[in-house]
Amino acid sequence: MHYNPKRATWILNRHEDIRNALRDTAAITSTKGVTRMRISAPILVLTDGDDHARLRRYVQPAFTTGAMSDWKAMVDQLAKELVAEVVANPGCDVMEKIAVPMPIRLIAHILGIPADDVGKFRSWSTDGVGVINAALTPAGLRQGFGGIRAIGALHKYFKEQMSNGTLTREGSVLGRLVRENEHGKLSDDEMFFVVMLLLFAGNETTTNLIGGIFDTLARNPDQFAMIRNRPDLIPGAIEEQLRYSTPIQNLYRYTRTDYRVGEVTIPSGSRVLLAFGAANRDPDVFDDPDTFRVDRNPHNHVAFGYGAHMCIGAALTRLEGQAVLRELIAQASAITEAGPATWSTNSSLRGPVYLPIRLSAAR
Ligand code: HEM
Repeated sequence: MHYNPKRATWILNRHEDIRNALRDTAAITSTKGVTRMRISAPILVLTDGDDHARLRRYVQPAFTTGAMSDWKAMVDQLAKELVAEVVANPGCDVMEKIAVPMPIRLIAHILGIPADDVGKFRSWSTDGVGVINAALTPAGLRQGFGGIRAIGALHKYFKEQMSNGTLTREGSVLGRLVRENEHGKLSDDEMFFVVMLLLFAGNETTTNLIGGIFDTLARNPDQFAMIRNRPDLIPGAIEEQLRYSTPIQNLYRYTRTDYRVGEVTIPSGSRVLLAFGAANRDPDVFDDPDTFRVDRNPHNHVAFGYGAHMCIGAALTRLEGQAVLRELIAQASAITEAGPATWSTNSSLRGPVYLPIRLSAAR
């Protein structure tokens, strides 16, 4: 446990402490925000208890096993196409070629966005996420205002598509929600919130995971060779990648009672940072934690969080990660870095922003 007086933040690092905190939503709440900025809103990630359970029930039908099997073909097709692009362009930036387009094209597909509109949908969603980086600096304000404008445009587009029934047609995410939550029970605003949820929670996180796969395998060629010999290791390798790179390195909570961790009492009303990245490298839980081992099978990692708020999109993420890895072993015999990478400086979201890679074509 560490206390940072400048940021007035208590930092939990140990796997056990973080899981205990995530379990105890009565003492350590999400209702005052999960980032450094205190914020309350009646949305899934910022509610606890009965409110949270009700909202989660509404969204759940979009992420069932049935939904995943409907989307698997699209995921596999995308992975095949995009990995082939990387093979055909040695030294290209894999962030641009696959890690960015894969999640956004998939989200557009499962929302039922018509193919012709995917380009503008992508730019609204990229700009919209800028709201998260809004800050009281000229650049921060520009991003904030740009983000709000993009969300406005996305909302207008959403309303048009809702009125002609495109987004709620059979098989799409919203179609499932409308049918499985009794018709009319979800308002248009609530459905727009689901669209935002998919974009904000499922986009950059998955981009970071996919970028991380390329980076880690390029640095650990023996591990790539091992997966090529034993494709049955693919699901476990993705879990190890999630543990090793932890795309969401940390999130916050706020205490609503005094909260004891070991010898220390965190006062009620304090800001607490849960360092998922540190927990995923806790040597008490993971042997030799700084080493990437595809046969480790770290089923208890906390990359998707833990407890009531555990990531609802985990299955979709796994589908994407595993499809990319399957295509990599089918299409490439070796992965090498083709120049220096640049990494995000975001303090919570970890991943490359520029990553030149060469794939040697498999024969
Ligand atoms: C590598 C990819 C991903 C990572 C690392 C990740 C990580 C996480 C984590 C750590 C949480 C817990 C938040 C908390 O405790 O406050 C979470 C929650 C959530 N995730 Fe993900 N996520 C990923 C992908 C996705 C995808 C693809 C979607 C949707 C399409 C998604 C939707 C959500 C939602 C809606 C929540 C809130 C659940 C709740 O509050 O009950 N995530 N995610």
